[in-house]
Amino acid sequence: MDKAKLTLDKDYIAGKVDPRLYGSFIEHIGRAVYGGIYEPGHPLADDMSFRKDVIELTKELKVPVVRYPGGNFVSGYNWEDGIGPIEQRPKRAELAWFAAETNHVGVDEFATWAKRAETSVMMATNLGTRGAGAARDLVEYCNFAKDTYWSDLRIKNGYREPHNIKLWCLGNEMDGPWQICHKTAEEYARAACETAKVMKWVDPDIELVACGSSNSHMATYPQWEATVLDHTYDIVDYISMHVYYANHDDNTKNFLAKSMDMDAYIRSVIATCDYIKAKKRAKKDMMISFDEWNVWYHSFPENEKAVKWREAPAFNEDIYNFQDSLLVGSMLITLLRHADRVKIACLAQLVNAIAPIMTVPGGPAWKQTIYYPYLHASLYGRGVALQVLVDAPKYDCKDFTDVSVLDAVAVLSEGERGRELTFFAVNKGEDDLEITCGLRDFPGCRVIEHITMTHDDLKAANSPENPNNVLPARSNDYEINDGALLVRARGYSWNVIRLAVK
Ligand code: AHR
Repeated sequence: MDKAKLTLDKDYIAGKVDPRLYGSFIEHIGRAVYGGIYEPGHPLADDMSFRKDVIELTKELKVPVVRYPGGNFVSGYNWEDGIGPIEQRPKRAELAWFAAETNHVGVDEFATWAKRAETSVMMATNLGTRGAGAARDLVEYCNFAKDTYWSDLRIKNGYREPHNIKLWCLGNEMDGPWQICHKTAEEYARAACETAKVMKWVDPDIELVACGSSNSHMATYPQWEATVLDHTYDIVDYISMHVYYANHDDNTKNFLAKSMDMDAYIRSVIATCDYIKAKKRAKKDMMISFDEWNVWYHSFPENEKAVKWREAPAFNEDIYNFQDSLLVGSMLITLLRHADRVKIACLAQLVNAIAPIMTVPGGPAWKQTIYYPYLHASLYGRGVALQVLVDAPKYDCKDFTDVSVLDAVAVLSEGERGRELTFFAVNKGEDDLEITCGLRDFPGCRVIEHITMTHDDLKAANSPENPNNVLPARSNDYEINDGALLVRARGYSWNVIRLAVK
């Protein structure tokens, strides 16, 4: 059996974990909204046609914040289309995904859904076809109590209390030529700066996220970040990052190593932020909102007509296999390791479109493989992230060298359950791994449980017919001897080791 050693010190703090690291995302895309969170006539639909089963799963995941309504969708969106009597709302040809948008769900409905799902809204504004004016009006509509045109209209529409949305995105992926009204860095930076200014004049308590690059392969990266921050450093609170990985060439070792790319990407964005900080002699550090991340295979139907100009067409409904959940686990570990600078992250997305939760029209909701690492991190990964030194066998693969077979981080938390130390670890190798970790800083601790997720078939997935094919289970393969933890992690496995500490 291969061996690995972890070294832990309670003072070696990676950062305080902002609970919003476990955010998610719902866009008007495919069946995310219509048929996902909202399905009139479904046996479990509530009085506003929200699926109660989806709400329950969102609550189970303890999703702290959900980005809405896009994504690419937001760059062509008129938010006013989605308010007022539902039957009077316009149906539009939507140009981000070439679908028909009924506008039956808009900001009021989504804010209500968020309350029912015990989460909060991260609202994106349209900096594609629109700009500062529409963004300013939307903040007024959402956050002003009363006695202005937009706040009184919200009250007339049946929402007496303001929605109090405190986190806002200044557009989406504006560096991407696929974006409706894509901009150069200069064009975007100026628009974002002026929009930010008027939005904060309406509500000084909001926090703002400026668009970073769509991914690190964009030709304009990282000059885009430098230009945008040069114009907006003082007025925005976060710069966004997005990344999606896939295993198109069926190369498991290479695929599982992609969290190293995510790590390098975060480091270089931090470096760019710090360069602008130095240039401006600024005091504050720019934080990161990693507001889109996941595995994504871009599963579009072969027949374009099956989706084009349809209402809520089923597309991008990636089915995640066991191997995908391992990379999602490693990506969560990477985010935790950067908890000092990455304060917000959104698993993209939440329901049906590239999502951990799936729904059958008129039928049940079910959990994909990636649901589980996301659940475990959200439940047990709140507190202070500790850097763990990992000494494990390494491998080389197509795009990476010196890939550690073991990815690990620890989180020290204090809450209703008491004081806990939780290790999150992915064994990326096919062999079982004997992991040891000295616990000199945590005398008298005991293992609460070792949750592990593994499967003989890396391609195994869940489905509506077989929703429990890939599931986490408890392992008894651990011991604490002479103040050291010894755990056996199966080849290819996601592991959560929870310790009660004094
Ligand atoms: O999450 C799906 C899409 O991916 C989003 O709309 C866009 O921002 C990104 O390219």
